[in-house]
Amino acid sequence: MSSIFYHAARLPWPTDWAELYGRSAPLLLDIGFGGGHSLVDWAKARPDASVLGVEIALPSLRRGVQKIEKAALKNVCVVQGDARLILQACCAPGGVSEIHINFPDPWRKEKHYHRRLISDAFLHLAATRLVPGGLLDIATDHAEYAQWITERLERTPYFVNRRASTFVTDDSERLQTKYEALALAEGRICHYYKWARKERLPETAVPNPFPIPQETPMPHIIMKSPLTLADIGRQFRQMHAAPGDTHIKFLEAYQSFYDQKLLVETYIKEEPLSQRVGLAVQRRPTGELIVSLHDVGFSRPTRGIQQAIVHLARWIASLDQESAIITSNIAEELLSDIES
Ligand SMILES: C[S@@+](CC[C@H](N)C(=O)[O-])C[C@H]1O[C@@H](n2cnc3c(N)ncnc32)[C@H](O)[C@@H]1O
Repeated sequence: MSSIFYHAARLPWPTDWAELYGRSAPLLLDIGFGGGHSLVDWAKARPDASVLGVEIALPSLRRGVQKIEKAALKNVCVVQGDARLILQACCAPGGVSEIHINFPDPWRKEKHYHRRLISDAFLHLAATRLVPGGLLDIATDHAEYAQWITERLERTPYFVNRRASTFVTDDSERLQTKYEALALAEGRICHYYKWARKERLPETAVPNPFPIPQETPMPHIIMKSPLTLADIGRQFRQMHAAPGDTHIKFLEAYQSFYDQKLLVETYIKEEPLSQRVGLAVQRRPTGELIVSLHDVGFSRPTRGIQQAIVHLARWIASLDQESAIITSNIAEELLSDIES
């Protein structure tokens, strides 16, 4: 491994974990590893496997990296990002052997329940990424979240229980986490769920509900328009669009002193990814306008970005009767997805 710290948005989708770890081995995910104790203990206990620590919080990632370096382990690394993005984008279907989720944030208030990691959709996503029979272990010390997890595991068609009861409250085989030690010291009961992916997943109405996000290099639309870039910039106002499941907000337009190009700051949310990008509107030497993804920052040219480019081009076309889209490399279904 050339590094032990990666960012989900910068890894190839899907990631070739065998290449990254330098060997082919079962992939074990510790989701929300927090302090990193369980991550390091798991990597030590499983030299046969490649262990991947998944975390959203930078301080935890930093602590995890320090612990891995101190232990001089070669079979573990960490990835920053939301577990849903890492599973869906970075992990190929059937590419994960085991998932541990220790003490996921309980999000106690009802208005925050939608943020809970364990959901029907998450269990479905995890099942698509696990190998047949792949293990799923979840632990929580929060009684109400335990009830929530129990309901979802009992109704999931994708997992089977490895124990006689939905959860156990004592598991002598496990590697104790920091959070667990605290919970037990404070007298809280821990619920341990020990489940496995079914050998065969039932067919679903949507054949591939969690596809690896597809990318189109350099998405763009060519337009004709008699409007100057300054005219377009002056007419800009904040706009929202919601084609399909994507949410797009056009936030602000800036103009370059150097070559007059417009940069439209745009926020795009397409589960499980959100990006803040710059869309550029420029005049080509041949006179046409080109609407494209600007290479400021590190953005991924996903379907949502293509939809945003289409929406922006359609808005420009609506400003003047002689403005119109001439050609593009955007998928036809996305061009027709959005009302003109
Ligand atoms: C309560 S702590 C548990 C830490 C550790 N597993 C333990 O048992 O000591 C939950 C951890 O999950 C991380 N987390 C929360 N949501 C996440 C997500 N969507 N993806 C990845 N990590 C997440 C948090 O940053 C936090 O470190």
